[in-house]
Amino acid sequence: MITRDISYAVNALNQGALVAIPTETVYGLAGSAFNEQAIQKIFQLKNRPSCNPLILHTHSINEVSKFVKEIPPNALKLAEAFWPGPLTLLLPKKSIIPHSVTSGSHLVAVRIPNHRVTLDLLKQLDFPLVAPSANPYTRISPTNSKMVDDYFGDALPCILEGDICSKGIESTIVGFHDNAPVIYRQGAISVDAIEFIAGKSKVLATVKERVTTPGMSPMHYAPRTRFQIVDCISNFIIQNPTLHIGVLTLGKTAIEQPNTTCIHLSIMGDLEEASANLYKSMYELDGMELDYIIIERFPEVGIGKSLNDRISRASYR
Ligand code: TXA
Ligand code: MG
Repeated sequence: MITRDISYAVNALNQGALVAIPTETVYGLAGSAFNEQAIQKIFQLKNRPSCNPLILHTHSINEVSKFVKEIPPNALKLAEAFWPGPLTLLLPKKSIIPHSVTSGSHLVAVRIPNHRVTLDLLKQLDFPLVAPSANPYTRISPTNSKMVDDYFGDALPCILEGDICSKGIESTIVGFHDNAPVIYRQGAISVDAIEFIAGKSKVLATVKERVTTPGMSPMHYAPRTRFQIVDCISNFIIQNPTLHIGVLTLGKTAIEQPNTTCIHLSIMGDLEEASANLYKSMYELDGMELDYIIIERFPEVGIGKSLNDRISRASYR
C-alpha cells in the first residue's frame, strides 16, 4: 500500500514490519535495526545474500554517536558538510548494533538522509532503521513509489510516498584509513566534493578492477533488457536498423528513427538532472520489450564519474 500517513509507517515499524522509505537518493526497504526478524525479512524480500551488509539510517549526529565507537576527525568534517545528505560513513560499530546488520564486520555504514518525510519518520521512532535500496537484488534501484510497488506488490505492507528522490542515485560511501578517506562506492556526492573537505582519497571498486567486496558485485543496477554503452548513438542505430532500441541521451540531440524510443536525461546536459532521471528512465525503457537500451558515457567530471560507474555496472555481463 502506498501512503502519506507517517504514523501508519511508525506503527508498522514498531510492530516489526518493513516500510519502503523515500530518501533523496533512492527508496530504501526499511526495518528496525534492533529487530532481528525485520532484518531477516529485508534480506529475504530482496533476495539479498546475508554477506551484504545494510546501511543504518538515523536523524542526527548525536544519534549516530550512540551507535559508533568513534567518529574520526575527517569523518566528522564530512558529516558536518554533507548531513543530512547522500553521504554514508563507515565507522567502528558499538556492540549495540547487531552483527546481522554489518554481516559480521566491525564497521557499520551510517547515514542521515535528506528527505523531509523520512527525517520526520526517523524522529518518531525509538530505533534507527536499516535500509538497503528497495529493489530485488541486482535490479535497478527505485526512485519513485510506483517502482517499489511494481517490484514487491502485496509482499510489502507499506510504501511511504515521498514524491521525488532529488538525487536519483545512491549515496557515496566513505571509509577511513588512518583518517584518510577511502571511497567504497561513488555516488550522489562527487569524489571532488569529498576531497575538497577531507583531502586526497583512494577510490575502491571500479568495475574494471572487479573488486568483490560486499555489494560491489560488478553486475548491479541492471535492466533486464540488454544494456550497452556505445561510442556513438546514431552510428549504433544506423548499423542496427532492424533492432528496437531504447536510447538515453544527454543534451538536445533528438533521435527520431523508426524502432527507436528516446528519453532525454537532461536537455540542458545537466549532470544533476540526468542523475535524478537515470534509474526511472532505465526502468521505463526496460518495460518496453526492446532489444537494446543504449547510452553514451557521461563526461568524466563531478557526478559524471558516479553515473559512469552505474552504467558500467548495468552493462556488465
Ligand atoms: O543511498 C543509499 O545509500 C540508499 C538509501 C536507501 O539510503 N541505500 C543503499 O543501500 O544504497 P544498499 O544496501 O543498496 O547499498 C549499500 C551498500 C552495499 O554495497 C553494502 O555492501 C555497503 O553499502 N555496505 C553497507 N554496510 C557496509 C559495511 N559495514 N561495510 C562495507 N560496506 C557496507
Ligand atoms: Mg542497492
